[in-house]
Amino acid sequence: SKGTYPYYMLKEIDEQPAVMRRIVDAYLPADGSVSVDPALVQALDQADRLYIVAAGTSYHAGLVGARLFEEVAGLPAEAYLASEFGYHMPLLSQHPFFLLLSQSGETADSREVLVKVKKMGYPVLTMTNTAGSTLSREADYTMLLHAGPEIAVASTKAYTAQIGVQAVLAKALGMYRQQPAANDFALRHQLSIAAAGMQTLVDEKDQIKNLVGQYMPDQHDAFYIGRGADYPLSLEAALKLKEVSYVHTEGFAAGELKHGTIALISEDTPVLAFITDDATAAHTRSNLQETEARGAHTLSIVSEHLAEPTDNIVLPDVDPRLSALVGIIPAQLIAYYTALGKGLDVDKPRNLAKSVTVE
Ligand code: M6R
Repeated sequence: SKGTYPYYMLKEIDEQPAVMRRIVDAYLPADGSVSVDPALVQALDQADRLYIVAAGTSYHAGLVGARLFEEVAGLPAEAYLASEFGYHMPLLSQHPFFLLLSQSGETADSREVLVKVKKMGYPVLTMTNTAGSTLSREADYTMLLHAGPEIAVASTKAYTAQIGVQAVLAKALGMYRQQPAANDFALRHQLSIAAAGMQTLVDEKDQIKNLVGQYMPDQHDAFYIGRGADYPLSLEAALKLKEVSYVHTEGFAAGELKHGTIALISEDTPVLAFITDDATAAHTRSNLQETEARGAHTLSIVSEHLAEPTDNIVLPDVDPRLSALVGIIPAQLIAYYTALGKGLDVDKPRNLAKSVTVE
């Protein structure tokens, strides 16, 4: 039940630190090992490329996960939209391995891909929040997200859980392969730090509510921008805002704005930038200033160690590979409060279903 919460979405946003702790308990014992099915790790070790296939928010989590598999386990990985992959499969590597990410485990576009690649004889892992779901039953391996039931149509805690569990698998594989990056990645500790950071942010939700009051009333368009690891985060932040508040929002690679889309920036258009990535921080800042010079109402969401006094939202520092876990929290809250302010049914946005069981 919602308990004292007005909407499930807010409850589910608040639950995210606890979900991270559940993932730690389920997969990361105190002795530094990783409890993942050894048969799965061995099968993944045989692969020369990981194809992560998903829809919507799960696809955005897959974009974050692909980087984790490459950086932590040295396995080339790429995320694909299920609705595209099913009909136009890229030229596959010699030993592909498929990871289907699905909160519900019932998404038809993802199932279509599963059926096709199984027929081709390739190994498939489903990461899902729903034990016994169709995708879980039909895959060779399953890992559970441990997010608990997600009721709001807008996915929040399943996104962060998917990043957490992909990090677990990347760490397990990397350790099996004796990758230095995996051995040095103290994931149990780092996920606990991320959970604490997430807690700080959900506790500061009134600050976000105030910012929404200043930035969002009567806006038709908004933009999230970021580079590097902040780009997939921008895509998810934009999806959250558009699906619950109906503000037309786009997520952009910050450097791409000036290749066309900056033409859309006019007086008071909200432009929200993520700055968590050391390598790209300075460039994203200057992109944000370029939009400000064209009248945009800019808002910066910045990691503590990169923050300047004028920044609007400060994210507690976490391992940079896990920055999306904290970065997404303010964006989820911005979406929530924008929809709430418009008097919309936050949990059941128009035209949307919780799981999309038609192609
Ligand atoms: O259950 P799934 O993870 O397969 O669902 C995928 C998408 O339909 C889902 O993430 C959708 O985009 C949400 N409305 C996002 O908040």
